[in-house]
Amino acid sequence: MLFSETTRLHYLNAMGITVWQPRFVTPSFTTLFTEPILGESVASENLISDSWEQLHTDVTQCQACTLCTTRTQTVFGEGSRHAKWLFIGEAPGQHEDEQGRPFVGEAGQLLNEMLRAMQLTRDEIFIANILKCRPPNNRDPHIEEIRQCRDYLRRQMALIQPKIIIAVGRIAAQALLETTETIGKMRGKVHHVENTPLIAIYHPAYLLRSPIEKRKAWQDLQFALYAFKTLEN
Ligand code: URA
Repeated sequence: MLFSETTRLHYLNAMGITVWQPRFVTPSFTTLFTEPILGESVASENLISDSWEQLHTDVTQCQACTLCTTRTQTVFGEGSRHAKWLFIGEAPGQHEDEQGRPFVGEAGQLLNEMLRAMQLTRDEIFIANILKCRPPNNRDPHIEEIRQCRDYLRRQMALIQPKIIIAVGRIAAQALLETTETIGKMRGKVHHVENTPLIAIYHPAYLLRSPIEKRKAWQDLQFALYAFKTLEN
């Protein structure tokens, strides 16, 4: 069993679920793998001499798209530079833009609970976003903004070399996998980005709006842990 009963109950309680009847049968793991989508290795020539300090400066000073004119500050991401788990969200919201930190609002609180249920802490993972700047009024990122920002995430991935990537929500998963698939289609499978396994999960902000999906979210977390353990063996 992956979790202690106490942890499981804590999570369910936090998610507003009082009774949990697992209906999820873990599919044969090998049938879940998809082909690498991007193929290209992050350890390419121009990334080898990169440093956290240089990358941080580049992000902070970025003026590649118009979001630099509306942001309060950039949100670089935070956590362990040696994390095995890299969580990638969509973009900073208002609280993140104000504080310069990822996932600090209400969705962030729920993400913390989800991490706790996985027996992970924010100190041992790294959390970043597809976009480093807040889109005005929390609108969806534009494709051009994603393109302009993509290199920063690639550089973060190259520096961290995570064992597994968790795409938090549809927009992050679609951007990373370069697809228009729904989150319903993307979840429950092991994808790859830059040769690193990637699992897509529901965004906590979506779960706050659609509590009925929280059961599926719980399944996704179990699946992510299962995938990670399989990779470690
Ligand atoms: N939602 C995200 O996707 N990222 C954040 O940092 C905050 C909310």
